[in-house]
Amino acid sequence: MEQQRIERLESSFNLVAPRAQELVDRFYALLFSRYPQVRPMFPEQMGDQKKKLIASLVLVVQNIRTPDKLLDPLTEMGKRHADYGAIPQHYPLVRDTMLEVLGEIAGDAWTDELYDDWSAALDLVSSVMIEGAKAHAQSV
Ligand code: HEM
Repeated sequence: MEQQRIERLESSFNLVAPRAQELVDRFYALLFSRYPQVRPMFPEQMGDQKKKLIASLVLVVQNIRTPDKLLDPLTEMGKRHADYGAIPQHYPLVRDTMLEVLGEIAGDAWTDELYDDWSAALDLVSSVMIEGAKAHAQSV
């Protein structure tokens, strides 16, 4: 990933990180209102889930300069997601919801460039997860 893109991802994440709770609250509210079909896949109580989503975003941004370190954890996460019932077609729904919410939280600081940066980052994360899920499906 291009150096400047990495820097923009890091600084925009730092900007929204103090409002991480609001970010994930809004993320799931929007995801479930747009795509109610995925709601039953998630637990009733979303508190732990929200914390885990924040932690995964932190993991990705913290390791963005050494992406090799993300391969194993994201592959494993993709395998677990296959077991939750996530399919490749769900990933763009999650990406688009996250992009919209990042834009809401970043406010005036949000730009088309940041939209492209985050879209590319989320597509990369998704592709590693989906590959992990495929390998998992072939091994069971
Ligand atoms: C960028 C993509 C995604 C990220 C970073 C992400 C992150 C996470 C994390 C960290 C967890 C906690 C449990 C674990 O690590 O296995 C989780 C759980 C879950 N995710 Fe995702 N996720 C992504 C995409 C998706 C998609 C596309 C779906 C499909 C609707 C999905 C559905 C779920 C469900 C249903 C659970 C909870 C399962 C349970 O606790 O029973 N996720 N996700």
